[in-house]
Amino acid sequence: MKQNKNKTSLGSAPGKIILFGEHAVVYNQPAIAIPVLDIRAQAEISPTDEAVVQIHSNDIQLNTSFDAMDKQDPIRKVIELILIKLSIRQPKFNLLIKSDIPVAAGLGSGAAVSVAVVKAICKFYGHTIPLTSINEIAYEVEKIHHGTPSGIDNTTITYETPIFYQKNHPVEFLMPKGTYSFVIANTGIQIKTKDIVDAVRQRFEYEPQRYQAIFDDIGQLCFSAKQKFCEADYHGIGELMNENQSLLKNMGVSSQILEEFVGFARDAGALGAKLSGAGVGGNMIALVTDESKKKVREALIKAGATHTLITTLEGKNE
Ligand code: MEV
Repeated sequence: MKQNKNKTSLGSAPGKIILFGEHAVVYNQPAIAIPVLDIRAQAEISPTDEAVVQIHSNDIQLNTSFDAMDKQDPIRKVIELILIKLSIRQPKFNLLIKSDIPVAAGLGSGAAVSVAVVKAICKFYGHTIPLTSINEIAYEVEKIHHGTPSGIDNTTITYETPIFYQKNHPVEFLMPKGTYSFVIANTGIQIKTKDIVDAVRQRFEYEPQRYQAIFDDIGQLCFSAKQKFCEADYHGIGELMNENQSLLKNMGVSSQILEEFVGFARDAGALGAKLSGAGVGGNMIALVTDESKKKVREALIKAGATHTLITTLEGKNE
């Protein structure tokens, strides 16, 4: 395998939002997620003569070498897995990571960094590997981030396509009809997905029937949402987002600030609004129309959102 000696090699990957089905997806229910192409993680590999791998990132305050990193560090792990996959025994390069995906906010920043690093290293060594292999590596690293990940984050981010996802099923790409705009609003409260997923598991073990019923309802709702995306039923999708939010609240993963954001977004004209990702803090998403998007965004900024973004999902033409 030939090293791309004189050139820097780039890899990048987007963020993601879960539209329906977070948490229930860990318990084998389906979920729907889309990539957020407006925000990305980037990895840049450049050649070095020293027999080391140096890693830098201003965004996540990292300036270290591969050997000095903890064995369970997700970035060390992703480098290790891709080097094994490519049979590279004496790697020499500098890795620079940049990302404009907010960290610990439910937008998939960890998975995006993994995918970007894999792509950049493959390019540097002049190798192409299939997306399924990139996804497998990113999933292994997600286990360090999340403990028992469903795999939805790494899959959405690897394929950069809307997906209808169910654990242990082949990946199903969603082909929505119409164009959908979402306002994403950050509560500014950083979250640890692993802790929230663990807390849901404890509650599920304590009250299995109640939690199973919530997971089942969310699963049903995802099948309905998939249908409504095929029909471009914007109002129907908005209503399902609101129902999903009520179920997430019953699951105990909403919070006062998320409820406030959801309320403000709906009052400002959003068709539907819910938390996205693990919940408690992180981000809220609202489905908006061309007429309501500015008002909804302004209402959320007024409510204290630390960062807002409008992302658009372009489906097939109506
Ligand atoms: C996190 O983005 C989504 C969760 O459903 C966890 C997972 O699917 O691994 C909360």
